[in-house]
Amino acid sequence: MRLLVQITAYLLPLFWASQVASADNQIIIETQQTALVIRVDKDADPTMVYLGKRLQQPTEYGLLTGNGKRGEDYTKIYNSVYTPAGGRNLLEPAIQVTHADGNPSLDLKYVRHEKSDLADGIVLTKVYLKDPQYPFEVTLFYKAYQKEDVIEQWSSIRHTEKKPVRMQKYASANLYLPAQSYYLTHFHGDWAQEMKPEEIQLSAGLKVLDTKLGTRADLFQAPSFLLALNKPADEETGEVLAGTLAWSGNYQLQFEVDPLRNLRLISGINPYASEYTLAPNKEFVTPAFLFTYSASGTGTASRNMHRWARKHRIPQGEGNRLTLLNNWEATFFDFNEEKLTTLFKDGKKLGVDLFLLDDGWFGNKYPRNNDRTSLGDWQENKQKLPHGLGYLIKEAESAGIRFGIWLEPEMVSPKSELYEKHPDWVIKLPNRAEYYFRNQLVLDLSNPKVQDFVYSIVDDMLTKNPTLGYIKWDCNAVIYNAFSATNANQSHLYIDYVQGLYKVLERLRTKYPTLPLMLCSGGGGRVDYGALKYFTEFWPSDNTDGLERVFIQWDYSYFYPAIATCNHITDWGKQPIKFRTDVAMMGKMGYDIVVGKLDEKELSFSQEALKTYSRVKEVIWKGDLFRLVAPYKNNLASLMYVSEKQDKAVWFSYLVSNRYQEGSQAPIRLKGLNPAKKYKVQELNVYPGTNSRINQNPAVLSGDYLMTVGFNPVVDARRTSVVLELTETN
Ligand code: GLA
Repeated sequence: MRLLVQITAYLLPLFWASQVASADNQIIIETQQTALVIRVDKDADPTMVYLGKRLQQPTEYGLLTGNGKRGEDYTKIYNSVYTPAGGRNLLEPAIQVTHADGNPSLDLKYVRHEKSDLADGIVLTKVYLKDPQYPFEVTLFYKAYQKEDVIEQWSSIRHTEKKPVRMQKYASANLYLPAQSYYLTHFHGDWAQEMKPEEIQLSAGLKVLDTKLGTRADLFQAPSFLLALNKPADEETGEVLAGTLAWSGNYQLQFEVDPLRNLRLISGINPYASEYTLAPNKEFVTPAFLFTYSASGTGTASRNMHRWARKHRIPQGEGNRLTLLNNWEATFFDFNEEKLTTLFKDGKKLGVDLFLLDDGWFGNKYPRNNDRTSLGDWQENKQKLPHGLGYLIKEAESAGIRFGIWLEPEMVSPKSELYEKHPDWVIKLPNRAEYYFRNQLVLDLSNPKVQDFVYSIVDDMLTKNPTLGYIKWDCNAVIYNAFSATNANQSHLYIDYVQGLYKVLERLRTKYPTLPLMLCSGGGGRVDYGALKYFTEFWPSDNTDGLERVFIQWDYSYFYPAIATCNHITDWGKQPIKFRTDVAMMGKMGYDIVVGKLDEKELSFSQEALKTYSRVKEVIWKGDLFRLVAPYKNNLASLMYVSEKQDKAVWFSYLVSNRYQEGSQAPIRLKGLNPAKKYKVQELNVYPGTNSRINQNPAVLSGDYLMTVGFNPVVDARRTSVVLELTETN
């Protein structure tokens, strides 16, 4: 049956001319709240005439005046659903190719479309397009997640020309949005300062967000953005599109305010140094562009993304996570079995589920005692760990704690046995001096042998140690001197690398479907929904200063759910342990401290906090997030998570300014509660030896009151962070 569908899919395009006789054919792609409407005109040009709030009467989409155009579109395809280059197009194309005969033009006419209902309220629409002069086809895929209001869009490209076709550009999505003005929030940064937001009003012409870093691709710029229409982005009001490209390599997001003042949005793999040669009968599938449209601000948009990610993307997105103690900042490279065994016991005493052994445990010819050697030599260092990993895992388990390990499988140190044995596995130019990022180089994952090697490192480790409970998968270097010793097409390297990485991860996930995997990249240099198909969680930043994290986590929260956001309590920054703990609770909590150095109060506070966390984590992980007070414009940050049933909520507030007498002077209005329900308000994480005025006389207030009048969490210089729990009561 499936084969039949496939065959028909390929044969039908041949009849495209007869299929498109009916003018003004409309394709309506809807979720519960959103509609995207494609219109096919009498010349079979597919254009996008609407993207916005779903209309109650679908017949009224027919009334749309073309495409919101406010003047003459000379080409009639400013709003093409997938703008082909080389013909009459005048603007930024979605696709640009050179045919086998050298012709540099493309035209894409509508052939037909089909819809299918997939499981879980997902409707897939496929729109088939074809060049009238060449056997060259593009299929556009729109997966509409009804309940979550998320659309996942990608394209597949294929041809049967006599020789390969060279593709200079091959976007995932091409959207068209008419509005009066456009406000783009994008997120940029560097190591330890990831996800810094910046909002700009788009002016006529092109704004491009991209990366050319190869691996660790979003170190400077995240592949995610918020696009607000007609007014700057607001948490509760206004139209906003939150978008993100699910690709862990070079990406490009283009925002073009066209001559008619409409916005053209094109997203996909970065064409930079990536001309792709497509052989006849081969299919090129682009990564997916994910977006959600909200008519009620960024709050709704991020709740949509979170629900979608938990249900449809992240492994065990609606499952459990392990709390852990990591040894990185406690020991760096300096440890041995004895030290680690003490740390297991410390972890147990603290009350976490797992001990995570970080960098420094491997390499013998070149022991990993600093970051200049050994990547690639994934054998236990005999001096530090004479009895091997198996022994350590057993030791941990007998101390009552599970064991996890750090790996950086895509990398190689110039000083390593791996490099000596396989210099041709390394990405580097033969006639240029090597240039290092964190003293290391990247393995050529476009080479299937390297893929097998990387796979076997992880697989062997898990086969030998079946109770290994967690892997932190790091990636600390970018690609310099991009060149593969084995790839026949150098300009495929950036793409083949990511596809090679995904192949390895796919194999691992198939064999180990429930293994917790942390996505780390020298901090948060690689956070995207391409990788998060395989990873249960990600490391947002090496910067774990409590105050900094209020901001960093705030910005990640636009796109990623708390259950996938790893927040560790460390010694970074000047905030007290209570502040750092409260901040870490807004996600997947962990520790990277020397437990033995905690004083009595700090230890008992932390032990209690872990118990509290285990009681309230379901609300934080799976509840709806409401951002109440933004740290950028206020002296406070405040946000809350509300359970789906609206019977529980956890509310976090922080002082982010140390100016005299700053604090929560007025009540803060809550969100997302049930107005008809009554809630008891109680303070959590009260530091030993301090009193909570809130708990002396716990308030019982209706959701209506809490959302209309508000409640003052009493944040001030003495109470710089406050966590409140709301529980439905009669
Ligand atoms: C990266 C990670 C850190 C730590 C080190 C180890 O920087 O982000 O958490 O694992 O590598 O070298």
